[in-house]
Amino acid sequence: MKSTADANHDSPLAVSWDRDEIIRLRDTYYATTQRAFVPYKKPLILKRGQGQYIWDEHDKRLIDLLGMNLCISVGHSHPAVVRAVQEQVAQLTHCTTMFYHPVPAHFAEELAATMPAGHEWVVHFTNSGSEAVDLALMMARAYTKNSDVVSLRNSYHGATYGAQGATGVQGFRHNVGQIPNITFAAEPNQYRGIFGEGTDPYLDDLDRTISYTTSGKLAGMIIETVQGYGGIIPMPPGYMKGAFDRVRAAGGLAIVDEVQSGFCKTGEAMWGFEAEEVVPDIIILGKGIGNGIPLGALVAKKHVADAMDGKFLFHTYGANPVACAAGRAVLQVIAQEGLQENAKKVGAELKTRLLELKEKYPIIGDVRGKGFMLAIELVKDRVTKEPAPEETEFVFERTREHGLVMSKSGTYRNVLRMVPPLCLSMDDVEPVVQAMDRSFSDLMAKN
Ligand SMILES: Cc1ncc(COP(=O)(O)O)c(C=O)c1O
Repeated sequence: MKSTADANHDSPLAVSWDRDEIIRLRDTYYATTQRAFVPYKKPLILKRGQGQYIWDEHDKRLIDLLGMNLCISVGHSHPAVVRAVQEQVAQLTHCTTMFYHPVPAHFAEELAATMPAGHEWVVHFTNSGSEAVDLALMMARAYTKNSDVVSLRNSYHGATYGAQGATGVQGFRHNVGQIPNITFAAEPNQYRGIFGEGTDPYLDDLDRTISYTTSGKLAGMIIETVQGYGGIIPMPPGYMKGAFDRVRAAGGLAIVDEVQSGFCKTGEAMWGFEAEEVVPDIIILGKGIGNGIPLGALVAKKHVADAMDGKFLFHTYGANPVACAAGRAVLQVIAQEGLQENAKKVGAELKTRLLELKEKYPIIGDVRGKGFMLAIELVKDRVTKEPAPEETEFVFERTREHGLVMSKSGTYRNVLRMVPPLCLSMDDVEPVVQAMDRSFSDLMAKN
């Protein structure tokens, strides 16, 4: 005789794969705030993923150049991550931080070991990148006893109140009155930044920002090593060092947001900041850390984190063992499969091929990025650099028809952003480039 629990196993909850029904349910029951983020004219419904590929509800295969907004780091349904998650979820699904469990503790040690030597690093696990950004802002203020924080224009740091307050991209800032004492310096965009190319003019602007818009005493400055949603804007050589020297001189901490650029995405190192001569005080991690399992983390120098030791800070699901088991597997897979080297090699080849497309299509104003953080910026005129958002929209829609998924980014929605899982292979480069080529040639045929 079957128990009630067994009987329930035999009747899983029904799922409708009817396209109209999925759209109707989402449009009816999602709040506008969650419903509005739809890039394609015809919604894309996804059924499964494997490695760097995803399949829609009609079993059409697409190359995932977005990695589900960079959450899929080592590949969709990577067997090592799936196994780690399945084993942990079956054994103990959650262990509140009031109690001890080895998996998050091991993961904290393993993450700390990836940070620059010679410092004592500690980890605070959160559920998302935004929560880790919020904590970083609080921690920097608690440690320095200063309030003012500098962020960069064109930055994205998350959607929660604190993280949104540090976000510079207009499209992500709601008209609700943001948290105070966050000021913005010019982003050192080498293609269309306000001061053109170079690092020094932007550091001069930072000096002015500190002089004219703050008390002169800083809690810190937060920087993405490569601005992600801003349209793949890598910090130019020397900027982060120069910026953090200035911030530290004003009493502040160096906070690096590696939510997009971390876990080898730039192909150069585990962390984007390693390409520069900087050792941050606080590092924010998220997205690919759990290969799709919700997880975020703040890593800080111990004496900095200790500034908040007066009270505990409780994230109900923080340090969840299932998410941390996924995180441990991600680190292991990156090392075992040589995925940093892969991102470097394949990313370089893809960039070379995208630069060839730039020779062919004058609408491509810029090809930039490194590793698997790449972008193409579309302009109506290469001299004036007038953004081409309608053309970008057209090419973007065509790339889907030709079998690719990527994203539109940047303040002017004229940047095609490519941030695939670390397992995109050399064999994928040709189909990706061909699909891009056909999409641009569709645009030329239309005009
Ligand atoms: C650079 C950066 N920082 C922080 C965040 C916030 O992370 P989450 O969406 O997990 O809260 C994001 C999310 O896109 C991000 O791209």
